[in-house]
Amino acid sequence: MPIYDIATIEGDGIGPEVCRSAVNVLSQACGATLRFTQLDGGAAHYVKTGAVLPDDTFAACRSMHAMLHGAAGLPGVTYPDGTEVGNDVHLQLRFRLDLFANVRPIRLYAGVQSPLAGFPPGRIDYVIVRENTEGLYASRGAGVNLRGEVVTDTLVVTRKGTERVARFAFELARRRSGAPRDGQRRVTVCDKANILRSYAFFRAVCDEVKAGYDDVAIDYAYADAITVHMLKKPDFYDVIVAENMFGDIISDLGAGTVGGLGIAASAELGERHGLFQGAHGSAPDIAGQNLASPVATVLSGALMLRWLGEQHGDESLRAGADRVEQAVEAVLAAGQIVPRDLGGSASCSEMTEAICRRLR
Ligand code: IPM
Ligand code: MN
Repeated sequence: MPIYDIATIEGDGIGPEVCRSAVNVLSQACGATLRFTQLDGGAAHYVKTGAVLPDDTFAACRSMHAMLHGAAGLPGVTYPDGTEVGNDVHLQLRFRLDLFANVRPIRLYAGVQSPLAGFPPGRIDYVIVRENTEGLYASRGAGVNLRGEVVTDTLVVTRKGTERVARFAFELARRRSGAPRDGQRRVTVCDKANILRSYAFFRAVCDEVKAGYDDVAIDYAYADAITVHMLKKPDFYDVIVAENMFGDIISDLGAGTVGGLGIAASAELGERHGLFQGAHGSAPDIAGQNLASPVATVLSGALMLRWLGEQHGDESLRAGADRVEQAVEAVLAAGQIVPRDLGGSASCSEMTEAICRRLR
């Protein structure tokens, strides 16, 4: 029986509790197949040691099969340029391990109340694929600050970066069963091609990639307009591909339409490496009180099982992913044990136990 080594970086704030919850659930689902190694990293570690992502942690992340992360960042722990230290955990992992596709499922689960009227569970089910290694984020730590008067960051769009994230989006659409509205396999390109050459180039490269996918439709939406479409016709979407900053913004809007960031999973994928974490932050105000919902991190763990299963041709992991997602869905649909962010009063440990009980 193969053993998969998982690097876990619990991080800051609610990170440790939601990460441990996911480890408990994944261990319940897959047993000894998964071997978790807890590694240092995050803003608190930076305050203690000066290293937000220690070399030995990075080396372990690079060599192990996958990475599971809780959350990182503490208020007031910033670099001299004003940017937050904690974010460097994922940003360094993203850029140094070239995790070019940030996959963010937007799905309304039974039992979860959407703020959108008229779209029951099953009618909101799409995936945002955010380019994760360039765009406006290419400037992080490299922006120009002239005399404290003029500060600029540059938007970088490359052919290679766009081709590979677009291909990822079309391949994903090919594996899915199409948009809820019409069953059409569809990739929507989110950009601002009407105004900026960089986005016109992004769109043109997506068009080139589309030529190899006759079975998948292509659709375009400007980044401003799509915020309205995501509220008025979410069932139209199947896969949305976007530049880094636009993807960061619309993925939070999408999460808001299906229950919020407490349920928003993410998979940050490169050719050989995968980082899995809830799309929420470290929520230091509720840290250590057993109040946080582990659902986003648990669902990210399911994405990890599915990805590992695909990477290694391991059907038992893919089945484990299905069981974890079904267990979460069953707990939410039953409506007895509901996390606080979804209107209930369940603690982190009560959610964890309820999901594990379903798995048992
Ligand atoms: C996200 C977060 C990160 C980002 C921050 C925490 C670095 O907002 O993953 O969506 O900006 O990508
Ligand atoms: Mn974000």
